[in-house]
Parts: sequence; C-alpha cells; structure tokens
Amino acid sequence: MSVLGTVSLRNFNTFGIDLQGNVASFNSIDELDSIRQSNAEPPALVLGGGSNILFVNPPKGWIWKNEIMGIHKINESNEHVYVNVGAGEEWHPFVLQCLKNDWGGLENLSLIPGRVGASPMQNIGAYGVEIKDVFHSLRAYRIEDGSIETFSNAECRFGYRESVFKQAYKNKYIILDVTYKLTRQKHTLHLDYGDIRKELEHMHVQKPNIQAVSEAVCSIRKSKLPDPVVLGNAGSFFKNPVISKDKAAELLEQFPGMPQHVTGNETVKLAAGWLIEKAGWKGARRGEAGVHEKQALVLVNYGTATGKEIWNLSEEIVLDIQSKFGIELEREVNIIE
Ligand code: FAD
Ligand code: EPU
Repeated sequence: MSVLGTVSLRNFNTFGIDLQGNVASFNSIDELDSIRQSNAEPPALVLGGGSNILFVNPPKGWIWKNEIMGIHKINESNEHVYVNVGAGEEWHPFVLQCLKNDWGGLENLSLIPGRVGASPMQNIGAYGVEIKDVFHSLRAYRIEDGSIETFSNAECRFGYRESVFKQAYKNKYIILDVTYKLTRQKHTLHLDYGDIRKELEHMHVQKPNIQAVSEAVCSIRKSKLPDPVVLGNAGSFFKNPVISKDKAAELLEQFPGMPQHVTGNETVKLAAGWLIEKAGWKGARRGEAGVHEKQALVLVNYGTATGKEIWNLSEEIVLDIQSKFGIELEREVNIIE
C-alpha cells in the first residue's frame, strides 16, 4: 500500500483539473485489506486512470487508486482464449498485447484511455463493439466486508454505457480483475461502423485482419478526439440520447438529416454530437472551458479551467438542447461534486 497523502489531483484526471485530494494506492488484495482496515470510512472515490471523471469539488474523503497488475491466459479451447487482467493495467497497451498474440475481439476498442478495471463500469464501447461482447466475468471486492465475489456477464447487467456497478451496486464494490473471452482464430471483424471501411481503403488494405482494424480505428480516433496529454478532456461528456420512435419521427420531420440509429423495437438513439453542433456549440469557448472544435460531444480544458467552469458550460448546453430539441442530455462522465 502506498499512501501519497494530500496531493494535487491534476495528474490523476485527464481533464487536468487542479484540486487537492488524499490518495492511497493498492496493488494487491492484501494491500486493499490493509487500506480497508486502517480507514474507518469507505473510499470517497475508487480511481483508475481518471479518464471518465470531472472533479467539480475535491472528493470528501480518501481516493483509493487501483494498481493491481497482471495479464494471464487462464484457459483456452480451439476457438477461444480466456485472459484474466488486473484492474490496474492500462487498457490500450493490453489491447496491443492481444493483437500481438493474434487474440481477437478488442480491436475496435483500441486507443480508449483508462484502466482495465473501469472497462465494465460503463460497458465501454466504440466503433460497433462493447465490452459486453467479449466479457466473461470479473472479480470484485465488497467494500463493506472485504469479501470477494465473481460476476458473470449477465450479472453485470450491461447496457449502453451502463452496468450494475453504476446503478444498484454503485460505490459498493471495487473491481479487482476482469476475464475476457477472445477469439484465437476465425475472428469476427466489425467493419460497418462509421468510416472503418473507408479508412481501410485509404490504408490500401484489401483483406483486413484484426491488426488492420485496430490501426484504422486508431487513425479515425486520432483525427477527431483530442489527446488528453495535449488538451484536457474525458471523451464524450454526454451520452447519446435514446428516445421513443414517435419522438424520433417528429424530430426527423423538423430536422431532416438528423442521424438516427434504431436500437430496439420502440427506441432510437440520437447523436448528441450532432445536436450540440446543430445548436451552434462546436468550438464554443467559455474562458478556459470549451467544446472541442472537431467533436462537439467532447468538452475540453484549455489549461486552467476549474471543474465548476466545465460543469457550468455543460449545464448551458443541456438547457439549450432542451429548449431547441426537447431532449434532455445525460452526462456520461462521472461527476465528483
Ligand atoms: P476512471 O475515470 O478512473 O473511473 C471511471 C469510473 O469508474 C469512476 O466512477 C470510478 O470510481 C470507477 N472505477 C474505476 N476503476 C474502478 C475499479 N477498479 N473498481 C470500481 N470502480 C472503478 N469511453 C468509451 O466507452 N468509449 C470511448 O470510445 C471512449 N473514448 C475516450 C476518449 C478519450 C480521449 C477520453 C479521455 C475518454 C474516452 N472514454 C471512452 C472514456 C474513458 O476512457 C473510459 O470510460 C474508461 O474506461 C475509463 O477508465 P479509467 O480507468 O480512466 O476510469
Ligand atoms: N456528429 C456531428 N458533429 C459532431 C460529432 C458527431 O454531427 O461534432 C455526428 C457524426 O457525424 C455522426 C454521429 O454524430 O453522424 C456520431 O458521431 P461519432 O461516430 O463520432 O460518435 P459519437 O456518437 O459522437 C460515440 C461514443 C464514443 C465512441 C464513438 C465511436 C458515446 C457517448 N460516445 O461517439 O465514445 O468513441 O461513438 O464509436 O456513445 C466516449 O464514450 O468517451 C467516447 C468517445
């Protein structure tokens, strides 16, 4: 266990918000037991890479940072390999290691920042794949009594940017490690989202493999999404709204060309980035807080913005989208108030 004490949180969140907080890290279950036993209070925040949070205020209590490492192949069949990964491992280097071993399933999720332990939290997704598609199980530590439980795919109750850990079990468990079920051969390629095929053509790839798909995804992402090392951000700030078919049809009549994606018998997903751009916010700035000029769904910190300033900008956007489209945007980023 490593107790850093009171430190600047600037390097612990990709928005680069500079507040003070109390941080302790753990790299094993034994260390986690020690932290739990030496703290009367549960953690105010369990932290991975800090790429999906906004500190509006400092957390009211200790931050426990997960540094449990290790990548192990635990089982395999002719077609699949089961890989168990410590929650503290960085996501993208793990994806690269899978590609090197020719293990398929994660290629469309390349270049997502953060740590492995957060991947099931909001069922990370990109370019037509979500973690639920390759997730086998996870082990989690119950904060209340230190017991360890295993959760299957069904038990995680994954949804669009959702899991049981954001709902009924919010703040109750610490994810220790995750097991993914990946393909060893006969990989299924997902090429239909957005510009993947176009990018592969541009790369002169005629017979794509999982490595080429990863390269295409990385290249598309680099062209739109700001690198947090250069410009503070936490990816999409809002979720894409899921609305009724009837409301979607009304909107389409009013706004021809509005992107809509059918998600169920009765529901349609809208593109929040399109709504925000259409409302005139793309590239807008409020002091050091802004809306990214290439992706309107991403709010950015130009350097010294406070969490409150980013929050206020997001509130202005929510109100404006509500008045222009009658849609209530929901924040995707975890807000620390
Ligand atoms: P953190 O920000 O540290 O934590 C996020 C939440 O999970 C917090 O509530 C935290 O308490 C909780 N948590 C973290 N680790 C644990 C644990 N071990 N046990 C229990 N709770 C835990 N996301 C996507 O889904 N798709 C994308 O395409 C995508 N693109 C992005 C692009 C950029 C440029 C950025 C900055 C972010 C992007 N994100 C994307 C969001 C983010 O990268 C993911 O949500 C990522 O999984 C967060 O990981 P993290 O370790 O940084 O989590
Ligand atoms: N769009 C605009 N203007 C913008 C941004 C987007 O009109 O400024 C339109 C695009 O033209 C497209 C549609 O919106 O028609 C969707 O855009 P894009 O494919 O870029 O994806 P997104 O909906 O903006 C989602 C995820 C991203 C993920 C990408 C790729 C959410 C909240 N966001 O973004 O995830 O990488 O799809 O799959 O679902 C994240 O969660 O942090 C994140 C970056």
